[in-house]
Amino acid sequence: MVPFPAHEPGAVNPKLCMEELMMTSTKSGSSPGPWGKNVLVEFEDGIAWVTMNRPEKRNAINVELAKEMVGVVDALEVDDRCGVMVLTGAGDAFSAGMDLKGYFQASDNLSDVERMRVYRINGTWQWRRLLHYPKPTIAMVNGWCFGGAFTPMCACDLAIAAEEATFGLSEINWGIIPAGIVSKAVAVLVRQREALYYVMTGETFNGVKAASIGLVNEAVPKARLRERTRELAKTLLGKNPAALRAAKDAFKMSSEMTWEQAADYLGAKSDQLQFIDPERGRVQGMKQFLDEKSYRPGLGAYRRDK
Ligand code: COA
Repeated sequence: MVPFPAHEPGAVNPKLCMEELMMTSTKSGSSPGPWGKNVLVEFEDGIAWVTMNRPEKRNAINVELAKEMVGVVDALEVDDRCGVMVLTGAGDAFSAGMDLKGYFQASDNLSDVERMRVYRINGTWQWRRLLHYPKPTIAMVNGWCFGGAFTPMCACDLAIAAEEATFGLSEINWGIIPAGIVSKAVAVLVRQREALYYVMTGETFNGVKAASIGLVNEAVPKARLRERTRELAKTLLGKNPAALRAAKDAFKMSSEMTWEQAADYLGAKSDQLQFIDPERGRVQGMKQFLDEKSYRPGLGAYRRDK
């Protein structure tokens, strides 16, 4: 059976789709990739550590960083060295949000259409690609996380924060609203009372609070942040990648459907997975549990070596 090529939900550019169809996966040790200035990428045993790299500006997201990041997520999608993508920031910041000078001021005097193009480039990596990225994504929030930085943090599948990290929806402090798509991204994860409290007061909160309101999965002492993130990434690397991809899409898509629509979609998605899964996980899982009695699905994943 020939697996279908990757299809990103929401993909809109037919030319890009054709280019994607013609691309083959990058193997370990091949060309470096479209990063190295505002974004760094390190590979470690299946994990791609993607670091926003403007520490002197607290990793504020300017137009150049956004453009570089579009290239990065695009490249890692088909890079075999990346099984799980971790998004983090250099120095003591995850990201201070959108760059007031290099993003807002830089686009203020453009025409409507030009400004829309800049915003679209940023939206492309921050949520359009990340929200349905074909590989698992983890935001590792190592420090300051403000405003526009909430978008990619929320769009990642999972998030782990340093207890000492500082979060803030600071927009109200300088007379704007959490736009881009920050308000929507926060509303998906956080209950209204908590979300509006931070939207309306602009107060900061730490990683422990972020975990307690559901903005991140957990908070750990900063000294353990990388180790815990690596541990979680390794857990994900042990699962069937096609099933992981279908599972996260299924969850995110069905949450916005009616029950009837969701039942129909999930049935179709489930059948699709069996058709595209190169390792035929469902068959393996059943065989190893029912025939070989070699594992318990309730307690761990099936052996993926056959
Ligand atoms: N946009 C543009 N520049 C920013 C920035 C942002 N969002 N956040 C930080 N910077 C720049 C500062 O202007 C400063 O530049 P300079 O060295 O050329 O003067 C540099 O980064 C360091 O910032 P500084 O404020 O000195 O660092 P700090 O460690 O004392 O404080 C923050 C860190 C994150 C608390 C503070 O920089 C801040 O409040 N930033 C804005 C956060 C925000 O409201 N973001 C929402 C944007 S949507």
